[in-house]
Amino acid sequence: MTARDRFLKALAGQPLTRPPVWLMRQAGRYLPEYRALRMKHSFLEMAHTPTLAVTATLQPLRRYALDAAIIFSDILVVPEAMGLPFAFREQGGIEMAFRVADRDSLGRLTVSGAAVRLEYVAAALRQARAALPNHALIGFCGAPWTLATYMAGGAGPLTVLWREQRAVFDDLLRGVGAVCGEYVRMQAGAGADAIQIFDSWAGQCPAELYRETAARWLAPLIAAAGDTPVIVFARGVRDWRHLAVSGARCLGVDEHTDLATLRLSLPENIAVQGNLDPLTLTADTATARSAATALLEKMCGARGYIFNLGHGLRPETPPENVSALVATVTGWRDA
Ligand code: CP3
Repeated sequence: MTARDRFLKALAGQPLTRPPVWLMRQAGRYLPEYRALRMKHSFLEMAHTPTLAVTATLQPLRRYALDAAIIFSDILVVPEAMGLPFAFREQGGIEMAFRVADRDSLGRLTVSGAAVRLEYVAAALRQARAALPNHALIGFCGAPWTLATYMAGGAGPLTVLWREQRAVFDDLLRGVGAVCGEYVRMQAGAGADAIQIFDSWAGQCPAELYRETAARWLAPLIAAAGDTPVIVFARGVRDWRHLAVSGARCLGVDEHTDLATLRLSLPENIAVQGNLDPLTLTADTATARSAATALLEKMCGARGYIFNLGHGLRPETPPENVSALVATVTGWRDA
């Protein structure tokens, strides 16, 4: 069975002797070869240039027996394509060029044609697909709520926009949702085996409002992927009912939810993905191994399970801990 078969079987809820494994932010600064590439190119140059993006995509697969690759890019390329560029601050974090705070600033964004400007991501996916015929290839997109949160200047200000200018807020999400829909369709057409939607700031939306404010934009996005399965990673969500009916084939889960309990509470046709605490990988190989074993034992026999972290790999993670983790998962045999 190829890595790709294993990944697709897990998404389809079929029995496996061990779950497939990939790790959020598996391409990134914890890898010396990534840092070497970054000495020569800015992040944006790498993201915008398909051959460089594919090189970064493949780096973790050359080191570890991962089952899936995620295309190297960022969720913020969508606002960029709409006319709202971003930059990394020296001290870390993101600086958006301007903030969507009213009708005028919303008017500076373009919806029509924005997805076409993201064609370089489709080109990277096609190249990665050709390089990785036997591995699963994951495309991704930010959820409209999370993207709008960045575009409106952070969780607090977004709530202000929601409270004080509801029509502007709704139009922002509608526009972002439309671009994301086209973008997801483009990625599915470029050979992605699955699309992950990152609703990383879901936990910043009051739970009572999550359904009407954030989750309602997910179903059209999932529908845009067509037959390509969608994984929704809604970080900080505790009430899974809305997501269970969104059409997502798999739910990504952070480290604060008990994954085995959630698995039992969901319909069998929805897979789960997660949720090792990325902090456990910042210690030593023995800690990485025992944390992975504990999670595998807990999920043992669970169909529809993809091994991953609860959030992205941290830049200070020693690569040998990732090696110990991946070896533990790939060496596992369900008794
Ligand atoms: O390996 C992979 O997972 C694929 C590539 C990927 C990146 N960003 C590359 C990246 C993916 C899937 C993302 C998603 C992303 N980007 C999210 C959702 C996931 C999450 O973390 O919750 C979010 C919120 C972003 C926005 C973003 N991008 C921030 C806040 C930052 C700066 C903070 C940081 O981690 O440095 C980025 C930068 C970024 N995106 C880097 C990488 C490898 C580091 C940039 C560098 O090389 O200097």
